[in-house]
Amino acid sequence: MQVLVLHGPNLNLLGTREPEVYGSQTLSQIDAELSAIATEAGASLTSFQSNHEGALVDRIQAARTDGTRFIVINPAAYTHTSVAIRDALAGVSLPFIEVHLSNIHRREPFRHHSYLSDLAVGVICGLGANGYRLAVRHALASLGAVGA
Ligand code: DQA
Repeated sequence: MQVLVLHGPNLNLLGTREPEVYGSQTLSQIDAELSAIATEAGASLTSFQSNHEGALVDRIQAARTDGTRFIVINPAAYTHTSVAIRDALAGVSLPFIEVHLSNIHRREPFRHHSYLSDLAVGVICGLGANGYRLAVRHALASLGAVGA
């Protein structure tokens, strides 16, 4: 039972990137915590970050055949621009949760629209890294993972 966590552009800079907006945890700290949550529930979790739209599309397509059952995605800036990522998620027909560290609705108007939200199982924003943890827990519970 596998959960795939995807992080979009600039999230590799977490920890030093605008910490007042995105928090002080690094991406590898967040990913390690998410893996631990999955392991505890008897599941596995893979994380992937890219600054490139096509690489994210390729990784989503690969999820169709690599055993992935649920996707948790923070598409970062591509949230607001990417029809390609939307189409990839629709194409693989896997359930996904959209996560944002910041509350995009309290920010600039161009961040208020997401190309993904209407396809998502749910959207979590504004809860910092805790949003990822909640999303992974929900994914595991919905997959029936023991101990989730
Ligand atoms: C973000 C919000 C986006 O608007 C922004 O471009 C990001 C991160 C978030 O996690 O709050 O890079 O997705």
